[in-house]
Amino acid sequence: MTQKPKPLHSIKVDGPIPAHLARSIIEETLRAAILDGRLPCGTALRQQDLADLFGVSRMPVREALRQLEAQGLLSVTAHKGAVVAPLIQGDAGETYELRILLETEALRQSIPLLTAADHAQAAVCIEQLANQHDYTEIGRLNRLFHMALYGKAPNRRLLRLVEDGLNEEERFLRFNLEAMGLGNLSQDDHRAMLQAAMARDVEGSVALLVKHLNRGVEVITRYLASPAAQSRKAAR
Ligand code: NI
Repeated sequence: MTQKPKPLHSIKVDGPIPAHLARSIIEETLRAAILDGRLPCGTALRQQDLADLFGVSRMPVREALRQLEAQGLLSVTAHKGAVVAPLIQGDAGETYELRILLETEALRQSIPLLTAADHAQAAVCIEQLANQHDYTEIGRLNRLFHMALYGKAPNRRLLRLVEDGLNEEERFLRFNLEAMGLGNLSQDDHRAMLQAAMARDVEGSVALLVKHLNRGVEVITRYLASPAAQSRKAAR
């Protein structure tokens, strides 16, 4: 019989944790382990195990888990407790359909209100993406580029939903970009979107965004169906 892997063993805790820092240390430690793959999706996180590991009571553990749930990194069910969330929730096609609805609306609201500083910020992201080979950074810069264009949308709740979607994608890309062989995240799309945004061409820029996100869903769907993705899943 093979031994079950114990992902919690990958987490190192340095010495006793001061009580007033417990929640944030636990939260940061678990977030880092989820993002870099030491805690793969589907891993169940039991409150008591974590309390033992960090040498604290269950209260800060519960609070940290609640924060991570709010960030979409954990899903909590009455039955199984806290479980590391899947990389793309449910169906990738539906996920992107929703993102297109939300992001095009955010872009529409934001473009008329964007300042020269917002345009410059987006341009910097494009520039940095051009020379970036680190997949974690590529995901982060892609998110920052998109948020620079959406950020002036007055509807803050809409923006929060948009950011959740981008975070989810960033996390997915971090693990899969290399295997997808997609080092260059459609830089031409980004450049064209920025140009349209600077010209206050709302519909032109929305059309480019739809094309950009549809390209994303195509690549990801094709990748998820490929033998490479299946074997990565099996290896988890
Ligand atoms: Ni993009």
